[in-house]
Amino acid sequence: MWRLKILVIGTGYVGTTTALVFCELGHKVTGIDIDGNKINFLKSGKLHFYEKGLDVLLQKHLTNHNISFTNDTKKAIRENDLLFICVGTPQGQDGEADLQYIKNVSEEIGKNMDRYKVIVDKSTVPVGTAELVIKWIKDNQTEPIPFDVVSNPEFLREGSALNDAFHPDRIVIGSFSKKAEDIMIDLYKDFQCPIVVTDSKAAELIKYAANSFLALKISYINEMARLCETLKIDITDISEGIGFDKRIGKQFLNAGLGYGGSCFPKDVNALISMAKKHDKSLSILESAIKVNESQPNFFIQKIKEFLGEVSGKRFAVLGLTFKENTDDTRESPSHKVIRLLLDENAKVRLHDPVAKQTNKEVPHFEEVMETVAGTDGIIICTEWSEYKNLDWNKVKDVVKTPIIFDGRNCLNSAELIKLGFIYKGIGK
Ligand code: UDX
Repeated sequence: MWRLKILVIGTGYVGTTTALVFCELGHKVTGIDIDGNKINFLKSGKLHFYEKGLDVLLQKHLTNHNISFTNDTKKAIRENDLLFICVGTPQGQDGEADLQYIKNVSEEIGKNMDRYKVIVDKSTVPVGTAELVIKWIKDNQTEPIPFDVVSNPEFLREGSALNDAFHPDRIVIGSFSKKAEDIMIDLYKDFQCPIVVTDSKAAELIKYAANSFLALKISYINEMARLCETLKIDITDISEGIGFDKRIGKQFLNAGLGYGGSCFPKDVNALISMAKKHDKSLSILESAIKVNESQPNFFIQKIKEFLGEVSGKRFAVLGLTFKENTDDTRESPSHKVIRLLLDENAKVRLHDPVAKQTNKEVPHFEEVMETVAGTDGIIICTEWSEYKNLDWNKVKDVVKTPIIFDGRNCLNSAELIKLGFIYKGIGK
């Protein structure tokens, strides 16, 4: 028999993954979304985004009837005990998180709930949102019905969502209610990781503080990479040399074109904006943004310095997504690299194994070989395995000039140089 009846509100990336993880744990899960297309897709066993392994779980749990999707909000709220809010919190004015979707969902919950519920917020939200959710629910109840609100931030990464969701480093549970806290601890009892129990405000800040720290780490190594170029030192030696120090750690020390995606750029801005509201400045994060935003310019400058000029030259840009194993191109540094090249009157040909290009100025090719044919330089913008495992010998035969600008430091430079390529990475 199912253990709990869980409603996941918002079937985007986080919501769909969360829903399927709970199915695997033996719960009965319902998913709702205001976007009927997403619901229809999921009902038919298909994902509306790319994430390895998730489609297999979706089909499994649709067949077992552990998961269902609906548009009937009222029925879904009434029939379930634990309601997970997984809606988007896009960047609003002045970098602040826009809470409109959270507010709409809270109002619906208030209007339709008929018995005690635990409302869990998984969306990334500013400090104080749990209290707002309580208010929005109460304001919409027709009679007082008890409920609790918990903040339970999600730390999963695109491209490794399932692994991250099943093997988290920690679980954060923030609530002002002991009853809700116990329900949540029981929900996660099978996970082999520490559970940080705190109040909802701290839980909300933990998510922003974690993402911002990781963004900071990336900008730190990228700025160090710039210094390495001047001093003629290889940044990968520095990353390795400092990464073995357990206090620093090896992860997120890969120098490159900088961070992108739907989380880091938005969350760092939101944290700065939140601090500003309380008359506090987070200058260290402001600097991290500056380094990140100028990293593609730094890279293009390097290409220009090496080639003399890029005007009229033909480049193959390999990779449009903000990292490998996702189809997400939001805030991808690749967009910026392409823009800067076009502004310099260079000709750009694009390849990505998954993402579709929407920029009409740039031809998008299905095959890498077709993309690189006759080019004056290859620019790697995403660290897809397909590029790491390319037959570079063949590539050398079709390019006009064998030059590789590796914006992700992901290729084997020694082998490429042996094959006769000129190789330029970042901080190398
Ligand atoms: C991030 C957080 O890692 C995750 O915990 C949170 O829940 C959502 O936001 P995600 O946006 O999927 O996840 O990507 P992540 O793997 O963190 O990478 C973010 C960006 O940083 C990518 O553009 C990546 O290429 C870049 N990056 C990462 C580097 O440039 N260097 C590194 O060493 C690591």
